[in-house]
Amino acid sequence: MPEMPVLIAQISDLHIKPPGTLAYGRVDTAKALERCVAALNAFEPAPDFVVISGDLVDTPAAEEYEYLKQLLAPLKIPFAGIPGNHDSRELMRSTFPAAGYAHVSGPLDQKIEVNGLDLILLDSSLPGKPHGLLEGSTLRWLDATLATSVDRPALLFLHHPPFKGGIWHMDRQDLFNADQLVEIVKRRPRVQLIACGHVHRAMLTTLAGIPVTICPAPNHAVDLDLGQLREPSFKIEPPAFHLHAWFAGEDFGRLVTHQVPVGQFDGPHPFFGPDGKLL
Ligand SMILES: [Fe+2]
Repeated sequence: MPEMPVLIAQISDLHIKPPGTLAYGRVDTAKALERCVAALNAFEPAPDFVVISGDLVDTPAAEEYEYLKQLLAPLKIPFAGIPGNHDSRELMRSTFPAAGYAHVSGPLDQKIEVNGLDLILLDSSLPGKPHGLLEGSTLRWLDATLATSVDRPALLFLHHPPFKGGIWHMDRQDLFNADQLVEIVKRRPRVQLIACGHVHRAMLTTLAGIPVTICPAPNHAVDLDLGQLREPSFKIEPPAFHLHAWFAGEDFGRLVTHQVPVGQFDGPHPFFGPDGKLL
């Protein structure tokens, strides 16, 4: 038997609008989520869990969360979401009341155990602001939660990236207290990944030796403007999600992040013919 990984899918920045409304007058985010849910349901082997890393809706408004619930209803995989700067903690609490939130009020932090992995969902939203901040209660909870084990691998998820990726108008709305996050995680080798959203495009860097990723969105991408050449803009690029595959083993096992495009593509086709020769 081949080694079977635990599969954690990550989707991000859904920006659901009221039914019949396009984001920025142009992007059908509901249709984009429908395609993404279909791709997740069709993926084999089925992912074990889905994390939605913020900006679940756009305004935020109650009818958007209602529509989000309808759009997520066909998803056959258990999921959990964390707020982004476009979300409302109160509306998220009332939309997903069964979630295992760590606090009775305030940040919507959660720890979810999936087949030997700890998924630690951190609420970096700051009501009314585009940038991110981890509140004191979140930082204390993170520190205490990471201290509960020395050998279980932990994957951290938060909306706002704790690094500057070079896109000028996004860098000014990143996680403002990334240094406090680093202070905690650098003492905890079991943290194997910090996975973020917010920028609608894939990025990879490291922080205190820990891989940090940004997941692309199912809809539009923030324009890759690394020279402050244009006003803040978006582009319609190939939609995708991330699939974090964890293979159990010594020293926290092995974590590999795959990017999975969403859409209909030709294949898979065999490399080899019936005679075993390369076609
Ligand atoms: Fe965002």
